[in-house]
Amino acid sequence: MQIFLDSADKNLIEKYSAWGIIDGVTTNPSLMAKEGVDPKERIMEITKLVDGPISVEVVAEDTEGMLEQARKVASWHKNIYAKIPMTQAGLAAVKVLSREGIRTNVTLVFSLSQALLAAKAGATLLSPFVGRVDDISYDGVQLVADIVQAYSLYGFDTKVLAASIRHPRHIVDCINARADIATIPPKLLDKAVAHPLTDAGLEKFMADWYNCVACQNLYK
Ligand code: E4P
Repeated sequence: MQIFLDSADKNLIEKYSAWGIIDGVTTNPSLMAKEGVDPKERIMEITKLVDGPISVEVVAEDTEGMLEQARKVASWHKNIYAKIPMTQAGLAAVKVLSREGIRTNVTLVFSLSQALLAAKAGATLLSPFVGRVDDISYDGVQLVADIVQAYSLYGFDTKVLAASIRHPRHIVDCINARADIATIPPKLLDKAVAHPLTDAGLEKFMADWYNCVACQNLYK
């Protein structure tokens, strides 16, 4: 499963891309607004940090406006994908963009029927919102699994990008659901890397090593 970072924070993107685990970045209007910087400048900075798909969301609500914004952001850099909301206007925009070779990430997806329609329209990536589905007492990971199975059954190329990931269990469940990609908020990666047995094991190794007089010359 590929890992995208769900953030527009330049410092955090730099930190986690240094780990060699970041395959792409997703942004949305809320994440960009939180940064309070010029969005184009920030996106261009991100393209220098991560060599992979960078999703930039359109904010127009009609097809023509979405097309104009999608073409604009896609012209900034070869790795930029236009993030298009799952609406009637959005589907019509995705159809045109896919014919123009502009890659899309269809966002705000909450059902299998939406997933089927987006794939038929030509979406490159599809973002089911796992955590927000859980928020209304449905099963977000099951939705991801259902979409993965349907796309495989019908032979769609659209990649399933699990979004709205809230805790490490979601990451594990998305791997088991065979999601192509999960976009993960930075603080969750800290939790995913940590394990109490790693900490306890390391502490014991260190204690044993520094109690061994004969060992102390090795790294001198
Ligand atoms: C990413 O593409 C989505 O916009 C993001 O994962 C939404 O996450 P949230 O539901 O935690 O806001």
